[in-house]
Amino acid sequence: PIVPVLLSGGTGSRLWPLSREAYPKQLLSLLGEKTLLQQTALRTSDNAMFTSPMVVANAEHRFAIGEQLREAGIDDARIILEPIGRNTAPAVAVAALVAMERDPDAIILATPVDHWIGNRAAFLEAVEAGWQAAQDGKLVLFGVRPTHPATGFGYIRTGKELSKDSAVHAVAGFVEKPDAVTAEQYLTSGDYVWNSGIFLLPARQFIKELQGHAPEVLAAARDAIADATTDLDFLRLDEAAFGCSPSISIDYAVMEHTEQGAVVVADFEWNDIGSWSALWSVAAKNPAENVEIGDVISEDSKGCYLRGEGPLVAALGVENLVITATPDVVLVTTRGRDQDVGKLVRRLKANG
Ligand code: GDD
Ligand code: MG
Repeated sequence: PIVPVLLSGGTGSRLWPLSREAYPKQLLSLLGEKTLLQQTALRTSDNAMFTSPMVVANAEHRFAIGEQLREAGIDDARIILEPIGRNTAPAVAVAALVAMERDPDAIILATPVDHWIGNRAAFLEAVEAGWQAAQDGKLVLFGVRPTHPATGFGYIRTGKELSKDSAVHAVAGFVEKPDAVTAEQYLTSGDYVWNSGIFLLPARQFIKELQGHAPEVLAAARDAIADATTDLDFLRLDEAAFGCSPSISIDYAVMEHTEQGAVVVADFEWNDIGSWSALWSVAAKNPAENVEIGDVISEDSKGCYLRGEGPLVAALGVENLVITATPDVVLVTTRGRDQDVGKLVRRLKANG
């Protein structure tokens, strides 16, 4: 079986003011009752394909994570705590090493915890399709058909077929977060898919690739495990050792360099719900195309994301606005400008 590895390190600053450092977006009920973490954990549970999950998370969030998993009926998760964030390469390295302690042939499914996937069955089919390639030592990516020249994603150039049913292709090239001009070229060429950020990895081969392409990351991960402490049910990585890793994502550290990449072009609906607009696009809307959550009243308004978690949000005669109210902050922006919410957050931080 496959070991699900939930990467829960990010904060999601573009979903401020709901998403905060102490309570990041994956721990929030942004779409439906369950939090994104719970939805992600349930997607890979209760199935002949998977073992119980491993979660690699910021140490500050440990209690919320433990509680949310239990609430979702998952009480056998292995939770690994990072005393400081070093991005995804060392997080996945630690998960691969820990998984290999139990099974030297372990295959892990490293997955973000802040995505929306529309169709679970299609998702599981895609994982199943990549399973053999992973057993053959391939680092398997899941590609999503691009819809616009996004610069916040990795781009995968699909190569020759690796499986008879053509579900799996070799990766002919991987470029993480290209600039706008390059992204436009990739889109028009039709040869590229977006990287969904989900990785099906044979642990041993992944460690070998790290050894070759990012040995400092691997060394830090090994030392951080060797000096780790057990804190209740949690495995707490050693701060000094883990801190020696460069802060680098798996995409830059390994996927741009490996010759063992394979890609399953996925059929599932996927959205990296990084912004209020993205949430608006996947959330349930009323006939006026508004998403209205919490204490909200609207009249002659359309295409808005309205969320009242504190004061009542009342909207009249407006279009395409994002209004999110919490007890201490009211954010007003437009769908289209909300990609820049992180700028406000950085300014607030700089001002203390
Ligand atoms: N444990 C842990 N520690 N998790 C982390 C850390 C960390 O230091 N940093 C990020 N994560 C988690 C995030 O919470 C998220 O679930 C996932 O890892 C991906 O990190 P992001 O920071 O959201 O990456 P990205 O969106 O810039 O880029 C990645 O995802 C894109 C798709 O959404 C890349 O894989 C891109 O190639 C891909 O297109
Ligand atoms: Mg992301």
